[in-house]
Amino acid sequence: MSDLLSLFPSGSRLDGDGTVVVGGCRADDLAAEFGTPVLVVAEQALRARAREYRDELAARRPGSRVVFASKAFPCTAVQRVMVEEGLGLDVAGGGEILTALKAGVDPGLIVLHGNAKSDEEIALAVEHGIGLVVVDNADDVDRLEATGRPQDVLVRIIPGVTADTHAHVLTGHAGSKFGLAPADAAALIRRIEHSPRLRMRGLHVHVGSQILDVEPFAESVAPIARLGEFEIYDLGGGLGARYTWADKPPSVASYLDALIGAAKQHLPASAQLIIEPGRSMVCTAATTIYRVTTVKRGAITFVAVDGGMGDNLEVALFEQRFEAGIVGRFDGPGLESVTVVGRHCESGDVLVDGVPLSEPAVGDLLAIPATGAYCYTMANNYNGNRRIPVVLANEGVPRLVVRRETWDDLMARDVD
Ligand code: LLP
Repeated sequence: MSDLLSLFPSGSRLDGDGTVVVGGCRADDLAAEFGTPVLVVAEQALRARAREYRDELAARRPGSRVVFASKAFPCTAVQRVMVEEGLGLDVAGGGEILTALKAGVDPGLIVLHGNAKSDEEIALAVEHGIGLVVVDNADDVDRLEATGRPQDVLVRIIPGVTADTHAHVLTGHAGSKFGLAPADAAALIRRIEHSPRLRMRGLHVHVGSQILDVEPFAESVAPIARLGEFEIYDLGGGLGARYTWADKPPSVASYLDALIGAAKQHLPASAQLIIEPGRSMVCTAATTIYRVTTVKRGAITFVAVDGGMGDNLEVALFEQRFEAGIVGRFDGPGLESVTVVGRHCESGDVLVDGVPLSEPAVGDLLAIPATGAYCYTMANNYNGNRRIPVVLANEGVPRLVVRRETWDDLMARDVD
């Protein structure tokens, strides 16, 4: 079970008494200071991954850019780490633009996405001088032209590639709601090229998320090459992350070998390439610490904790498998197979279906690694849940960067 440690952020270790230490901070100290559940991000692990992406891309394609897909963890502190490491930011909505700007990003390094951007979001983007707006449909072009301002744009193309991942996070297949089929895109590209305000800079493609082999990425390049030569090609994100023992995601290096190899084969040599990693950038840099609320022994042993689908929707959304351990006893004694469930009124509120835990008891702390991607993002108030805090742990120093929601926060919006 000490293998469990390998799923925690790089640099994590077990203290003398077996307590897991993340970002130099003991899990029990973090729980005491910030309460539970708490989402802990190991800052150095996050920085290391950002640098790995940046350096591996630069080594293969100088002049190209990594933009972090903010949607995977859209809080100012995480976006700021990316900016400090020299990355741009991909945003997919108004709030992500605001936290990106607060994080200090050069607006010229922001890429805006969305299949149904509102007038308000388009205005926010254009007024702040956002570098690239990715056009998803003809209505985006109407809205952009209506602002009366100049704007550089990319056009999102459906490459017709079906990757091996959950249907809910597939985006590059024919029939996707995102982007345009190549034949439909051609007319819109011509319209943009004749627009007095819009500047047609290039194309965008994204095949989906949690993809654990490299071929679909490479396959997505040729279909966009047939649409003509452009200055910029944004090849999206989607590389899978390691959630469990069974996952063997490709390394950043092998992913880029395949992707940049295809780009060299099909795209103009002078073109700037952009990639947009989200999940694989942040997933394993974080862990969630819960407290066990109740243990119910019967045909199945249910270990219920003080969080669940209010802070981790990945299981309910697309059956993502996680692992877990009782803090201080990853290696036992008395490992028994249990189902870890949340506190929400839904049978699908399962955090881990079948995992060995050591003598779980009320009051124990339970840690689930690899909760850095989309858990913060998809947090919700189901059953009057207060969304959980985010703590950045850096060389033994914890820093609260998103506070826990309060009852007053919940009541503030209820204006009747
Ligand atoms: N670029 C675009 C245009 C995207 O739509 C996405 C993710 C990314 C980049 C980043 O992909 P990544 O590297 O993170 O796989 N709500 C789901 C995740 C949906 C992903 C959406 N698009 C979840 O909770 O897991």
